[in-house]
This record gives sequence, C-alpha cells and structure tokens, in this order.
Amino acid sequence: MKDIVRQKLSINVEIMDMLNKQIEKEAVSSSAYLAMASWCDHNGLENSAAFFYEQSSEEREHMLKIFKFINDNGGTAYAPEVKSVMHEFNSLEEIFEAALDQEIEITQSIHSLVQKCRKLNDFTTEYFLQWFVNEQMEEEQLMRRVLELFDLMRDEPLKYIDERIPGLREE
Ligand code: FEO
Repeated sequence: MKDIVRQKLSINVEIMDMLNKQIEKEAVSSSAYLAMASWCDHNGLENSAAFFYEQSSEEREHMLKIFKFINDNGGTAYAPEVKSVMHEFNSLEEIFEAALDQEIEITQSIHSLVQKCRKLNDFTTEYFLQWFVNEQMEEEQLMRRVLELFDLMRDEPLKYIDERIPGLREE
C-alpha cells in the first residue's frame, strides 16, 4: 500500500529537473525586473519603476507556484541562485526591449516543458502549466503594447510615455 501511495506522489525526474530550471529562470526574471525598477527610480521615471516592481513580484509568485507544485507532488524544489543581473541601461526603451526578450525566452521555456509533458504523458504537469502558457501570452502582449507606445510617442518627452505606462496594464 505504501509503495502505491509513494508512486502516486512521485513526479517524473526529468520533468522535475526542468521545473527546477524554470524556478531559476523565474527568479532571474524577478531579479532582472528589480534592477530595471531601480534604474527607472534613479532616472525619475516613477510609473515605470512601479511597473517593474510589480513585474518583479509577479515573477517571484510564478517561481513560488512552481516551487510549491514540485514539493506538493513528491519532488524536491531547490532554492535558486541568481547571478549576473544587468543593472546598466542606455534608455527606457532599451529596458522594455530587454523585458520583451526575457518574456519571449520564458515563453519558449514553458512551451518546451509542455512538449516534454506530452512526450512523457504527464497530464498533471501539463494542466498545471496551462496557467503559465496564458500568463506568458499576456505578459508578451503587455511588453509589446509598451514598445508600440515608444513608436507612437517617439517625439514626445519621456515623462509623457512614463505617465501612460500604468494605463497599459489595465488594457
Ligand atoms: Fe514568469 Fe513572465 O515569466
């Protein structure tokens, strides 16, 4: 009986490794957004700073969601190490471009995980990951909306762009 219980709780090892790598990516992402928030704060771009503080918290929540999922399913989640986060940027637009690149990378990583789940018939993890598939779609769309704003308001002072940032989250 005990063995059956244990089997039911065991997460596939390959999937668990990939999920632990995803934890690291979410942690790096959270930290990178914090660095972006700091740059915005130092450059007097209050709304953009608030935007990135919020992004950073969301990424930490994503990390914890995966962390908890692994442990709840009989695996072992590892606390991630975060190294080499970029703090120097040339412009706010460059920051949002980097943010979009980061989100695209995370989307690809989530999609690879879903593919792996399908290959190994791990329907539970695939179902769990659906939330992340949707979340990534929304996050990419958000970053693209901000970058469109730069195109539309290229000749305006930066502070006007900064003022429009909070509204984009609600769209
Ligand atoms: Fe959690 Fe947007 O990556």
